[in-house]
Amino acid sequence: MSTAPKTPDTPTDDRLPVTLPALADKRERDEPIVMVTAYDFPSAQVAEVAGVDMVLVGDSGAMTVLGYDSTVPVSVDEMVVLARAVRRGLKTPFLVADLPFGSYEASDAQAIATAQRFVKEAGADAVKLEGGGKMVDRARALAEAGIPVMGHVGLTPQTATALGGYKAQGRNADAALRVAEDALALQEAGCFAIVFEAIPAEVTDVIMQHMEIPVIGIGAGASTDGQVLVLHDLLGIHDGFQPKFVKRYADVKKEMVRGVREYAEDVRTRGFPKAEHTYGIAPEELDRLRAQLPPHRTVV
Ligand code: KIV
Repeated sequence: MSTAPKTPDTPTDDRLPVTLPALADKRERDEPIVMVTAYDFPSAQVAEVAGVDMVLVGDSGAMTVLGYDSTVPVSVDEMVVLARAVRRGLKTPFLVADLPFGSYEASDAQAIATAQRFVKEAGADAVKLEGGGKMVDRARALAEAGIPVMGHVGLTPQTATALGGYKAQGRNADAALRVAEDALALQEAGCFAIVFEAIPAEVTDVIMQHMEIPVIGIGAGASTDGQVLVLHDLLGIHDGFQPKFVKRYADVKKEMVRGVREYAEDVRTRGFPKAEHTYGIAPEELDRLRAQLPPHRTVV
């Protein structure tokens, strides 16, 4: 059964949870799918209220919220904590959790066991894995185990070193064909959707003609069925490297620094707290307290 189209103006309480059929319907109706990352309870609530369709607990959280240099070091335990917090903040969007590097590549059994943790412990609706080749088998195994799985081709940050760094992929015919073959193999393996990251828009246009599942792009042009951005990039919560494909919609870090600076200044100048931030006590109760305490210590 499909769900009615959601608009961001629909009150959150009236929106139905986004399901796999709803995502497929959106693709059929050519209605863009909105996806964003989230890593904690408040960012999930923001995604919920803003009316996005899909939330990804991306392993980009390794860098955006855990401070690692890349996505490689983050563990399943760390990702499960983030995913659980996001789950608690969401009612409507479809929740996808990234399988972190080293948690699924070795065997189908490893992939299934890790994915089951995200479903059982964090309440994820689906998991995402990166790459083609052998990872197509892992995706098939997950789909056959009843775990909805999303693919990810093009720039795959977990294996960026092997790809020659964080750079666009598929920029010549042979490389573009490899991206296309991976995407088609993942589709055939049973992925319900797929991320295209950092590939030329014209390459995306060509591959899209062969896709039958929702494709969510990030730096892959405008012809995909939807778009995803990292929350911290789009809101300006961090000021590190920003890929070409990011559009910044707010400057939240600047505003956070401004607020904390103002607070620090207030504390240092005794401008905070004021009476309105303070609790009171009846004068007679204060007198009783004083009477029960030893006399003031006198300083000699
Ligand atoms: O981890 C992440 O944020 C991602 C998106 C870039 C798709 O995989």
